[in-house]
Amino acid sequence: MDVRPLDWTGDRLVLLDQTRLPAEETYREYADAEGVARAIETMVVRGAPAIGVAAAYGVVLAARTAAEGAPDRFRGAVAAAADRLARTRPTAVNLFWALDRMGRVLGRVAGKAPAAAVAELEAEARRIHTEDVAANQRLGRLGAGLLPDPCTVLTHCNAGALATAGYGTALGVVRAARDAGKRVRVVADETRPLLQGARLTAWELHRDGIPVTVICDNMAGARLRRGDVDAVIVGADRVAANGDTANKIGTYPLAVLAREHRVPFYVAAPRSTVDPSVPDGDAIPIEEREAGEVSRCGGAATVPDGVAVWNPAFDVTPADLITAIVTDAGVARPPFTESLRALLGPR
Ligand code: MRU
Repeated sequence: MDVRPLDWTGDRLVLLDQTRLPAEETYREYADAEGVARAIETMVVRGAPAIGVAAAYGVVLAARTAAEGAPDRFRGAVAAAADRLARTRPTAVNLFWALDRMGRVLGRVAGKAPAAAVAELEAEARRIHTEDVAANQRLGRLGAGLLPDPCTVLTHCNAGALATAGYGTALGVVRAARDAGKRVRVVADETRPLLQGARLTAWELHRDGIPVTVICDNMAGARLRRGDVDAVIVGADRVAANGDTANKIGTYPLAVLAREHRVPFYVAAPRSTVDPSVPDGDAIPIEEREAGEVSRCGGAATVPDGVAVWNPAFDVTPADLITAIVTDAGVARPPFTESLRALLGPR
């Protein structure tokens, strides 16, 4: 069953509120860029590719508003909205990649009437949206070829339809394997602190009829030791030029465990997630979020008041722990500096 985390109506962005899942399927409408920026910050919409698509539509909403004002202010107002959107979440490179694409269109339409500029910006946002689904379907097919039949895949966080424009990256591989007739089961880490695995991955797979078992993050070692996991597949927020990969906090220890148990560790990501301008993982900015996400759970305190909390949203998995990076341009194998450049070009 199709999961649509975001939809464009022509004058509004509609987001499935991911903070309310699995209890409620609530859709929210956004008519201005500030609302979209807040939706990204509060994770109504989350997942690197979905953030990029939402931000692109945020620019369109800003342009629609600016087109009603003085023509000489149009470009400055849209650029300011893009800057605001860029300050929401620092790690997912798809956000900056999408805003760059929108910025290039804004530069190109400088001399045109605002209404014509809005139309071109909207067309670009729609392209970013549809291209992401196509990229996921393609990388899904490539990744599915790596899986045995039957197989059990362990995943972390949510790199599914909800995290993208649709279909998913890590879960796109799972879906493509299922669609190719393979019997595939998923073990989903719950993914503390915000439980994207338990709440979101389990929700979308269960809806899709794909068998899924949720485990607490600290059970992954025991599960891998049992010997019935064939592959670990995760998504990515940013892949550096050398293959080092930032993804949801807890991905790195999973990669260490996979190496110890000789289980292949795959990263699935569209080319918009690869950032050749960043040489290695140390140069990837890691978002730190508010302490309350860790010190409270379901409204109840889990940490005594006054106790320090560290809440990085992502960690970096060094390239040498990664078996392959599955992109829509092909499957990159170590050494990644060469294989990623060969697949994607220097860009
Ligand atoms: O903080 P989140 O929920 O936005 O983190 C999401 C992830 O870490 C995903 O694995 C990543 O963005 C890839 S989504 C296809």
